[in-house]
Amino acid sequence: MDRSKTAKGSIEAALGGACVIAVLSPTTPEDAVFAARALAAGGIQAVEVAFRTDAAEAALAAVANALPDLPVGAGTVTTPGQVAAAKAAGARFVVCPGLDVAVVAAAADAGLPCLPGVATPSEVMRGQALGLDRLKLFPAEAMGGRAVLQALAGPFPDVRFCPTGGIGPENAHAYLALGNVFAVAGSWMAPAAAIAARDGDAITALARAAVTGAT
Ligand code: 3PG
Repeated sequence: MDRSKTAKGSIEAALGGACVIAVLSPTTPEDAVFAARALAAGGIQAVEVAFRTDAAEAALAAVANALPDLPVGAGTVTTPGQVAAAKAAGARFVVCPGLDVAVVAAAADAGLPCLPGVATPSEVMRGQALGLDRLKLFPAEAMGGRAVLQALAGPFPDVRFCPTGGIGPENAHAYLALGNVFAVAGSWMAPAAAIAARDGDAITALARAAVTGAT
């Protein structure tokens, strides 16, 4: 694979400087667009549509079309086929729960920055061997949270992480304060109940709280 396509900083460039990524698992494109608009109103600058519902592809395409200035990526990507589908739908980046060489290669071939998930030092090393120095720590809270990130900073001083899984208003800013964290991601800003009730104000308020003071 062409490792230059997974060069340092490419995922951050695709995120447009966003350090809080809102994860959506929409069941309809309309739900996704509604949530993305409410999130953007609260200052969210990047959205990930998880490929874990039948509506994911159409939802990603709908968000990309409705909000062209909002970087939208595909999440929960586990196969090269999903990378192709994400690209076709307008994804600007892909996020994976784990580290799979074929998926990373497919993303590089598609020209999409890839943020694979890792949970152990061995997986960080495999990511580095693929030319990646930006990785998702998943599932962050279940794996030990901030203590794990602080422990990984010693052997991996050049790697920065996007912790995901169990992040919420109570800990997002503490994660972002760590020197080896470049972003956090999670679903807490767009609760399914708020989407179903079309409570955009609630989503916007959660988004605003997440980004206020986040650097
Ligand atoms: C993801 O796929 O990124 C995570 O499932 C999001 O985790 P969360 O729902 O705990 O935020």
